Amino acid sequence: MSERHGVEAIGAPLWLLAELTYRCPLQCPYCSNPLDFARYRDELDTDAWIDVLRQARAMGAVQLGFSGGEPLVRRDLETLVAEARRLGFYTNLITSGVGLDGARIEALREAGLDHIQISLQAADPEMAAAVAGSAKAHAAKLAMARAVKAAGYPMVLNVVLHRHNIDDVDRLIALCDELGADAVELASCQYYGWARLNRAGLLPSRAQVERAEEVTQQWRQRLAARGREMRLLFVVPDYYAERPKACMGGWGAIFLTVAPDGAVLPCHSARELPMSFPRVGDRSLEDIWYASEAFNRFRGDAWMREPCRGCSERHQDHAGCRCQAYLLTGDPAATDPVCSKSPKRELIELARAEAGDKPEGRGIEALVSRQSRNSRTFRRG
Ligand code: FES
Repeated sequence: MSERHGVEAIGAPLWLLAELTYRCPLQCPYCSNPLDFARYRDELDTDAWIDVLRQARAMGAVQLGFSGGEPLVRRDLETLVAEARRLGFYTNLITSGVGLDGARIEALREAGLDHIQISLQAADPEMAAAVAGSAKAHAAKLAMARAVKAAGYPMVLNVVLHRHNIDDVDRLIALCDELGADAVELASCQYYGWARLNRAGLLPSRAQVERAEEVTQQWRQRLAARGREMRLLFVVPDYYAERPKACMGGWGAIFLTVAPDGAVLPCHSARELPMSFPRVGDRSLEDIWYASEAFNRFRGDAWMREPCRGCSERHQDHAGCRCQAYLLTGDPAATDPVCSKSPKRELIELARAEAGDKPEGRGIEALVSRQSRNSRTFRRG
């Protein structure tokens, strides 16, 4: 622990998210990569990533997520997993499953990978293709989910819910059940990156969210009655909450992201903020974590404004999400408008009203998608 900055004791980072690449074969309109991801073509090489892993582990990090983009496009993934295992990390691969095959699962298992999480876009191939921009991906994902389980891993599936697939939650859960999933995360889309750009076409209505939550609860009861252990987690969209989430457990509190080009960020969306972030190679991770201006900017509560400053909940929610506050208000130090006490709460109410007024499930073809090799936006269809 350190008290160098007079904000509060700064603990070590517990989580390291290694965003190995922004490259991805899919085109999801809610991708959390930066809109201008194509500006960051240079990726850290294997040695640089190994150095990051060593530094983070020496600082005390124990959980390591490999993500992207699609981390499987990195041919050195197995090398990095093996080094992470040697260092004593608990490792998690966060993947679309596209680019995986039996041989690669075996290689990753041999390298010591602990956990694999595969994303699904929809219950049926047509919707999955419309969302991911790939006609083949859905079948590949189902095959890989089964192969991951056959290799002895728990099957952990993640589905991002939005207005075009949320009404299918019953079929989605049935599909996960049929696949033999051990855990399913029904993660409502949150509005950063490409999702923020596409918010008008993605945000479900309140009625949709409530129906989906109810269906999920009914599934929990049915699964329990069958003695089937499949953990179902339903994450409500921030826009339908009354209090903000304690994003990342607090800015610079437990979570550290290293972006493909070596930028060190307190969260995967921080690049959207009007701030500059240090890079590995220029400074040590330890120096960045404890002493950089970027990591200290929103630690503690001295930076907060009213109503957060005098709020009894400020140490629980840390004034909410800095990225969301900035994307909605233009001020990264503002109260997250998700909070019902925020003076800018009307921004959330407005988005909710717009989502409620639109015909449900229409307009997927109008979503702006990322393009795999550059950031030129294009319209589907
Ligand atoms: Fe950046 Fe919440 S996503 S602080």
